[in-house]
Amino acid sequence: MVNPLIFPKIRQKILRWYALSKRDLPWRRTRDPYRIWVSEIMLQQTQVATVIPYYKRWLKIFPSLSAFAKAPLSKALRYWAGLGYYRRARMFHEAARRVMKEFKGRVPQTAEALRKLPGIGRYTAGAVASIAFGEKTPVLDGNVIRILTRIFAVPQSIDRPATLERLWKISAALLPDKSPGDLNQALMELGATVCFPLNPQCGRCPVKKICFAHRKRREISFPVRSSKNKYEKLQMAALVVRNAKKEVWLEKRVEHTRWGGLWMFPFWTSQKDMLSEISGVCSKPVFLLKVGHAFTKYRITLEVYEASFFLKGPFSKKKRGKWFSVAGSSRLALPSPHRKIADFLANR
Ligand code: ADE
Repeated sequence: MVNPLIFPKIRQKILRWYALSKRDLPWRRTRDPYRIWVSEIMLQQTQVATVIPYYKRWLKIFPSLSAFAKAPLSKALRYWAGLGYYRRARMFHEAARRVMKEFKGRVPQTAEALRKLPGIGRYTAGAVASIAFGEKTPVLDGNVIRILTRIFAVPQSIDRPATLERLWKISAALLPDKSPGDLNQALMELGATVCFPLNPQCGRCPVKKICFAHRKRREISFPVRSSKNKYEKLQMAALVVRNAKKEVWLEKRVEHTRWGGLWMFPFWTSQKDMLSEISGVCSKPVFLLKVGHAFTKYRITLEVYEASFFLKGPFSKKKRGKWFSVAGSSRLALPSPHRKIADFLANR
């Protein structure tokens, strides 16, 4: 049962805790909407510790929205390299150009207006509008879902849209009139540093006395899910081809496709396809390593082989590829599994 009478107490305890315990993160030292926007896009699928150096470097290269919008996409992708999920960078770039063109460079100030931009969903719109502009608008992501379903011991499955709608309402009702962005960040912070999925640190939690899940010692039973996540497993093969100079062959994906603009080792959806395509062109491939990668609904296992190329000319005439030294490949934008291969080669 969610009793709104306890909302003020929860709000007060969480805000007080946040004031005392919040981490000093670079995007918490600014109200510049562009900087907050950068942080929220980077944080969408990436942990705080990974984001910090990228965030700082990004702002040196693209210190303002106009600098970012003027830069070519390939440059943005290069500075995104390593963060993965490049679609975020592509949509962010498109959104930045739109703000320059349609809003004379002024970032829209409400969640409703922000949501019309590419790459900004309900959560990111709420985060940017509340943190940068002080709009009283909620956020709900995995962290906030976990906190709210635990505090109120929400028995309904979070796979149901109706449950999520209810949680959005609770998140909105918790907001204070003054500095709603602080409460939103406090919820994110509590989820990231205390209310962990499997081993919540309830001893350090400001709302442990109120939390229904904690009172019943049932913290990890929440949030309730009806269906186990179903992932599709994919097995793929990739090839490190080397020429006589020991360079490796990388191919650039065409723009406007998945991975568009990124460099990758040649890969196939099966080892059989790989073998049939390279026979007569390369030496017999030798197994090198296995790379696992989780990508939205997929769990990809990439078996990586190595072979030497014994013809003159390009490895593949059809593809836009080039030979790179291993060191040179470290400066390119590669999707995460291919980055793992390049790192393996560099450190071997
Ligand atoms: N995750 C998403 N947004 C965040 C923020 N502003 N601070 C910390 N973690 C976050």
